[in-house]
Amino acid sequence: MQGERNAASTPPVGDALAPGAGVGPGSGPSVGLGPSVGLGPGPGSGPEGVVLRAEGLDKHFGGVYAVRNLTMQVEQGHTVSLIGPNGAGKTTVFNLLSGVNPPDAGRIVLAGEEISGMPQHQIARAGIGRTFQNIRLFPGLDVAENVMLSLDARNRYHWYDGLLRLPAFHREDRASRDQLQEYLAAVALEKYAHSKPAELSYGYQRRVELARALAARPRVLLLDEPAAGLNPGEVEEFIELLERLKGDYNLTILIIEHRMQVVMRMSSHVYVMNFGALIAEGTPEQIQNDPAVVSAYIGDAHA
Ligand SMILES: Nc1ncnc2c1ncn2[C@@H]1O[C@H](COP(=O)(O)OP(=O)(O)O)[C@@H](O)[C@H]1O
Ligand SMILES: [Mg+2]
Repeated sequence: MQGERNAASTPPVGDALAPGAGVGPGSGPSVGLGPSVGLGPGPGSGPEGVVLRAEGLDKHFGGVYAVRNLTMQVEQGHTVSLIGPNGAGKTTVFNLLSGVNPPDAGRIVLAGEEISGMPQHQIARAGIGRTFQNIRLFPGLDVAENVMLSLDARNRYHWYDGLLRLPAFHREDRASRDQLQEYLAAVALEKYAHSKPAELSYGYQRRVELARALAARPRVLLLDEPAAGLNPGEVEEFIELLERLKGDYNLTILIIEHRMQVVMRMSSHVYVMNFGALIAEGTPEQIQNDPAVVSAYIGDAHA
């Protein structure tokens, strides 16, 4: 699958941030770059309230059209779902939006700025944060350090400030530590600050990823099947956690999710993909009763 392939081949974004060659699962710090200052809506920004818009996206891998002429948008403060059978192209859309892969055609505009074609770290800095379908944490680092990478990436001091022990470094360092505590508390993981990811349950690992993505203060948070692998009780807890975080941090979320329970509860708008293309969109109630959606799901046990 896409996730593992990139984990193996994509170096962590920004060499200075890498915790060491071969340590990390690849894209750890890529979510760790906060929105740059001064990138507010400018000329060319879409209708009022639209923070992310993709237009006419195409992506093919050899003969496979993973994404075909896809247009979608996310409004500020909304939770929008992207659903569809396995192999529909959902993760590929996230990879295009977050710059893991460039689109073959189309454009992506974030808060008035065209981000399509930018390298991954620049897109992260512009404000696209994400988590991965297959959790990607740095196994050699503890929970606090995994989250800290995002904060370090966001902060303004340079590596040489640290070497020279300049005041800016110490100020940022203290501020980062306070923020670290805040984000760990936000996902209720303070107790596990010094645990390694492998010592945590799957559900808690998902929370670490979430804290790391949040710490980058993204304009839009992309969550790729965040409830996958959780048991029903954990799913319920996770929904509540997300709803709370959404309020506390004013989040705008685009979520790929299979469970209708999550989709129905959380989203204001749903896009449905099949074979790379959009086949429906609307409110959760509208898409639930859409014949095209129902037939796309028949025969796909995992959907
Ligand atoms: N890097 C890649 N190389 C080749 N094929 C890919 C790659 N990424 C995705 N695909 C193919 O694109 C299609 C859509 O995959 P994906 O976006 O992962 O779907 P989904 O997330 O909806 O399950 C699949 O046929 C998949 O095999
Ligand atoms: Mg996927």
